[in-house]
Amino acid sequence: EMAEKAGYPHFMLKEIYEQPRAIRDALHGNAGIIRSVAEEVARYEKIFIVAMGTSYHAGLVAKYLFQRLAKKVPIVEDASEFRYEFEDLVDENTLVIAITQSGETADTLAAMKLAKRKGAKVLAIVNVVGSMATRIADLTLYTHAGPEIGVAATKTYTTQLTVLTMLAIELARVLGTAGEEYLERLEMELNTVPELVERVLKHDGSLRELAEYLREKRDFFYIGRGISVPTALEGALKLKEISYIHAEGLSAGELKHGPLALLEDGVPVVAIAPGGKTFDKVVSNIEESKARGAYIISIGNRDDLGKVSDVFVKMPEMDELLTPIVYAVPLQLLAYHLAVLRGNDPDKPRNLAKSVTVE
Ligand code: G6P
Repeated sequence: EMAEKAGYPHFMLKEIYEQPRAIRDALHGNAGIIRSVAEEVARYEKIFIVAMGTSYHAGLVAKYLFQRLAKKVPIVEDASEFRYEFEDLVDENTLVIAITQSGETADTLAAMKLAKRKGAKVLAIVNVVGSMATRIADLTLYTHAGPEIGVAATKTYTTQLTVLTMLAIELARVLGTAGEEYLERLEMELNTVPELVERVLKHDGSLRELAEYLREKRDFFYIGRGISVPTALEGALKLKEISYIHAEGLSAGELKHGPLALLEDGVPVVAIAPGGKTFDKVVSNIEESKARGAYIISIGNRDDLGKVSDVFVKMPEMDELLTPIVYAVPLQLLAYHLAVLRGNDPDKPRNLAKSVTVE
């Protein structure tokens, strides 16, 4: 097992560090086939995205990508809900996109089978080659992340996002819903994401120090807007899964509608704040949290964030649509260090399984 960890103390840390390579493989592995899959997707008006856990968060990011680039509005449902709520709405004119690392999650497989029975087309985005999901699906895109041993998904999430971003770009091209010049620029930038992740991994040491400061905290809030809402949800999920600290991810606009009542001196609020049209709004959410004594950790690119935050984790500049991939990395590292400092085994969190094969 020591050899398999390649010198890292845990599989999770190894897998976090493998992300530049994994993302590169996802890009290369799908470059040749993304066009034909996008052409198929373009034929459908009614699109459902189904998944569980971290894969569900990838589905939520995909919703923003499809909306912004391809002007398509998919319905994203957790697979365990989809089965019961949408049964009557699925037909031959429906496309169901299932996202699953293992390809064996019971609820996701059941949703896929239901879709097939109703005559829908099923596209699966899967990591494990030859898994059950790939056998049920009409079409499969692989994430090429390699085996993931840590229970908490890391490299399989960022590679899912990579594939979904490629798909949304190509879909926009097929449908003519975005300018070719912009799409080319975005594609070029997507190809540099492995290097951006490489740079972000350099924050590891300072995130460990931050984790030391935060190790006794009991509640965390993760806030974001737009495409950063799923990033906030995923940051909170990572923390819950392995550090056993209670965490909530939410759209920053929802703060005022309840969670603000829970803020008091020293409660950590992690603000996912890339540039973009809602930047100023997020800054005002940070300020209102700060006014209640919250300890603000902001993740973004604009230096003015430094002035309103206790800790500013500076990200490289990039198109907002690519931030879910790169910004996931400091959140993974923060959760990892908190888990280790609190004496937990991040690879095998209590009560959780790598793949949930019962409903
Ligand atoms: C379990 C794992 C999660 C994963 C989820 C969905 O809960 O612990 O890390 O996100 O299942 O798994 P899947 O293999 O379908 O992506």
